[in-house]
Parts: sequence; C-alpha cells; structure tokens
Amino acid sequence: MNRPANHIVLIGMMGSGKSTVGRILASRLGVDLKDSDAMIEATTGRTVREIFAADGEPAFRAFETQALQQALATNERCVIAGAGGIVLAAENRLLLKSTSPVIWLRCDPVELARRVMDGSTHRPLLAEDPVGVLKKMHLDRATLYGEVATNIIDVDGRAPSEIADEIQELLK
Ligand code: S3P
Repeated sequence: MNRPANHIVLIGMMGSGKSTVGRILASRLGVDLKDSDAMIEATTGRTVREIFAADGEPAFRAFETQALQQALATNERCVIAGAGGIVLAAENRLLLKSTSPVIWLRCDPVELARRVMDGSTHRPLLAEDPVGVLKKMHLDRATLYGEVATNIIDVDGRAPSEIADEIQELLK
C-alpha cells in the first residue's frame, strides 16, 4: 500500500485503548492528540451521549466525518484516535486510506467488554448486552478496520505503554 506518511491514526473497537495509547504516544512524541469524540464534544458543546439521544446516530456520524476531516487536515503531525465507528462511512474509509500509518488496535470482544466497564459514559450503544453488542460489532466491522489499516496490533492482555512502544518501533 503506497500512502503518504503523515499523522498516526489509531482505529479499533470501543475499549481497544485508542485514547489511552494515543495519549501516551502523543506525549512521548511531543505532538497533539486529536480524539474524534473529544473533538465532537468540543465543537458541539454537547456530549456524545446527548448527541445520540437528541439527534440520533446519523447526526453523530456526520459530526464524526467532520472531525476526521479536520484532524487529517492539521498541518502539524499529530496522533489521531478515531472512535470505534469511524470506519462505518465509506467516505471516512476513503479519507483513512489517504494517510498512514493507520493502526488497528485489535482486541477480542470479551476483553473489550471487560475493559468498557470503566464507567465511561460516551458509549450509549453499549447500554444493553455489551458483550453481545461488541461481538456483533466486531464481526460487522473487522473487515472495515482491515480494509483501511496499514498495521494491525493485537492488544489483548497488553499494557498501553507496551502498545505505544510497538507503535514507536514501527515508526522507525
Ligand atoms: C462508538 C464508539 C465510541 C463513541 C460512540 C460510538 C462506536 O467511541 O464514538 O459511543 O460506534 O463504536 P470510542 O471508540 O472512543 O469508545
């Protein structure tokens, strides 16, 4: 795959550690972290949960595309943590395929379910049966993550700092 090297984009399911690993990596590299959920919340002045509840998922997805476009358009190199559903829109997948590295933090859905029990409130899609939902999402989305990823890192049972080490290795 021949893509221009630019920002470091992390993708993967909810709970795969994109934001945590992204924070570590950005701090080590001395660059900004752009987290699509946080960008949406900052732009709209509303939480992800409020947007889902008031406007519905399609409206949230439109904000997500804007956030991705904005993050990728940043002049300075940065780390971008794309939310779990960022690969759903074909438009976003095209954008993701225009940059590298795009790193898929891959994780078993059962471990994801354990990890998302951290009290985070920005995941309304997991309100009921998180394990079942995550298993189905993983099945539905694995091909999409694979389609846009330049690298895949299996993160099961591994510490975020170790994942950041591995990403720094592959940046060399
Ligand atoms: C979602 C992932 C969440 C958030 C929203 C929907 C998804 O972000 O955008 O709850 O569809 O996978 P994280 O992946 O950062 O948890």
